[in-house]
Amino acid sequence: MARKALIAANWKMYKTPDEARAFVETFLPLVVSHSRDEIALFPSVTSLATVVKAAAGSNVHVGLQNMHFENEGAYTGETSPIMLKAVGATHTLIGHSERRQYFAETDAIVNKKLHAALKHGIIPVVCIGELLAEREAGDTAAVLKTQLTGGLDGITAEMAASIVIAYEPVWAIGTGKTATPEMAVEAHSIVRAEVARLLGSDIAAAMRILYGGSVKPENASSLLNEEEIDGALVGGASLKSDSFSAIVHY
Ligand code: PGA
Repeated sequence: MARKALIAANWKMYKTPDEARAFVETFLPLVVSHSRDEIALFPSVTSLATVVKAAAGSNVHVGLQNMHFENEGAYTGETSPIMLKAVGATHTLIGHSERRQYFAETDAIVNKKLHAALKHGIIPVVCIGELLAEREAGDTAAVLKTQLTGGLDGITAEMAASIVIAYEPVWAIGTGKTATPEMAVEAHSIVRAEVARLLGSDIAAAMRILYGGSVKPENASSLLNEEEIDGALVGGASLKSDSFSAIVHY
């Protein structure tokens, strides 16, 4: 069975609620009858409720860029799964490389967040990917396997159906350097094989593996037409509605 692609916008720390609403108002008409792919927006936390409201009733899903694993508690600055759901969001990114790099997020934390997301019925997009030095040292496969083994610890095939993986080579994020389709396919094949080892071949065959890292309208079709690439996680090129809709219509 063909996997339905997910095209997701990671807005990072950009856009006020007014800017986010303006984006949705111009974006929705551009994708109004688009059903080939799923579409999701990941605004910053202060725009989450605004974007959920603006996208209500449309084919556009909304999620958080980061979520804590506890339901509530003394965790200054964090947002819980319950809070995410209470405003009507449905997805969350987990373990984005910027969270790993600047906020010390480890595979163990990613794993706790993944368990929490699944427990609450939130669709998790688990981000993995190697650093440039790791690729140059020939360690890409080992890094991806370590991140998957740690991130998916304790996850069973019964729990795993909604999990989405985003392969994002860190050297390609925000740098304008994109992995070639061949490089992305090779990495995705490693990820799928590792998911098969951990969760079984049925789950692996159905799991969506997105590519992320300098995806733009100009390179989207060459990446997304690859059978192994089940969508894209888009940063910079998702900030403008015409650019992001061009990627959705790759
Ligand atoms: P980029 O970001 O498209 O700007 O490279 C991708 C991401 O960080 O998810």
